[in-house]
Amino acid sequence: SGYVTLDSGYKNTGATKSAITFLDGEEGILRYRGYPIEQLAEHSNFMEVAYLLIYGKLPTQQEITDFNSQISRHTLVHEDMRKIFDGFPSSAHPMGILSSLVSALTAFYPESLDPNQSEEEMNLNIKRLIAKISTIAAWSYKNSVGHPVNYPKNKLDYVSNFLHMMFAFPTEDYDINPVVVNALNKLLILHADHEQNCSTSTVRMVGSANASLYSSVSAGICALWGPLHGGANQEVIEMLEEIKADGGNTDKWLAKAKDKNDPFRLMGFGHRVYKNFDPRAKIIKKAADDVLSALGIDDPILEIAKKLEEAALTDPYFVERKLYPNVDFYSGIIYRAIGIPTDMFTVMFAMGRLPGWIAQWKELRENKEPIGRPRQIYVGETERNYTPISERA
Ligand code: CMC
Repeated sequence: SGYVTLDSGYKNTGATKSAITFLDGEEGILRYRGYPIEQLAEHSNFMEVAYLLIYGKLPTQQEITDFNSQISRHTLVHEDMRKIFDGFPSSAHPMGILSSLVSALTAFYPESLDPNQSEEEMNLNIKRLIAKISTIAAWSYKNSVGHPVNYPKNKLDYVSNFLHMMFAFPTEDYDINPVVVNALNKLLILHADHEQNCSTSTVRMVGSANASLYSSVSAGICALWGPLHGGANQEVIEMLEEIKADGGNTDKWLAKAKDKNDPFRLMGFGHRVYKNFDPRAKIIKKAADDVLSALGIDDPILEIAKKLEEAALTDPYFVERKLYPNVDFYSGIIYRAIGIPTDMFTVMFAMGRLPGWIAQWKELRENKEPIGRPRQIYVGETERNYTPISERA
């Protein structure tokens, strides 16, 4: 037991057994509960995929009708949560608001803290979280633009309701475009789970201490916020904007990305597991073309992105290191086309990833996994004696 193997960044360590998501990085295969991501993105919708991930099977008509109506019933967020929300400055990053308010749910639903909650109580907490995250996410946007919040409209489906809360003003009826609803469903599906990535491992680690679903997911949101993880989608657009402002000189930026003395990385490129292509990026690239043409938008940064991708895919630096566009490379272009501001991109990722986090947290509980507790290789001082302060140099 004194023997510890070092695996920084967990590159080769399986931390758990899981029956949720299959990922083959060499072949570019991603399946949720056995269903290929391509089929789900094409034929399913986000709530159905959420059900699939969490409960392990595609729902019957009755099951999905019940699931949807139970979620709609919980979209309102307690008015006292507004007091916490109102304390945030308008400069607050929406991810900070999201993680704080999800964590605050533990105070409003203290029964969620009980590790021995019944299956029924667990399901209620799950549905509450799926419902309220969309309301909180829309609030976080309203805060950033200084607008009053819009209350949910429960006759709408999940995605349409979110768009309503984002873009309708209290006095106007926002016209919900089916092209936008479809695009958003697709993006959320593609983000819904990705086995033991950084934020999901965080959710499982926190959950392994028997912490509540809300606390575990709040921690996952913080992990996702990092620019090497979900935060990359915001950075991609900022990078593309910068390249555009710089005259669209993609060669210059590729050279920067290759220069080992320059910390700049090509955002939206590379992946820890995918080494041939990211199947999600393939679907999103096509969706970006479809959505922009359906909405009649001509976004010059889409052209820059394509030019950059083409140049990188033929450049030995990127070829040798097997660096390909990842899920984040084209997603921001779609978000932008449907009116979602850049600092909300990672929030969109969090909404999409939520069913995966929930499914993983639930699986951990059901399998009664032990508390996560990695070991280390100690490289510090050996034993030394305490010296009084007067004798220290
Ligand atoms: N641009 C330039 N060089 C890169 C890039 C990049 N985007 N990604 C990796 N490299 C180089 C890296 O410098 C290293 O080169 P060398 O062997 O000469 O030192 C080599 O490729 C291997 O990189 P690594 O950092 O050891 O690989 P990793 O598996 O630890 O990191 C990654 C994976 C995704 C963090 C990294 O590719 C990266 O920083 N990409 C940009 C950020 C990004 O797009 N993140 C989103 C990931 S997908 C969605 C998500 O997880 O949320």
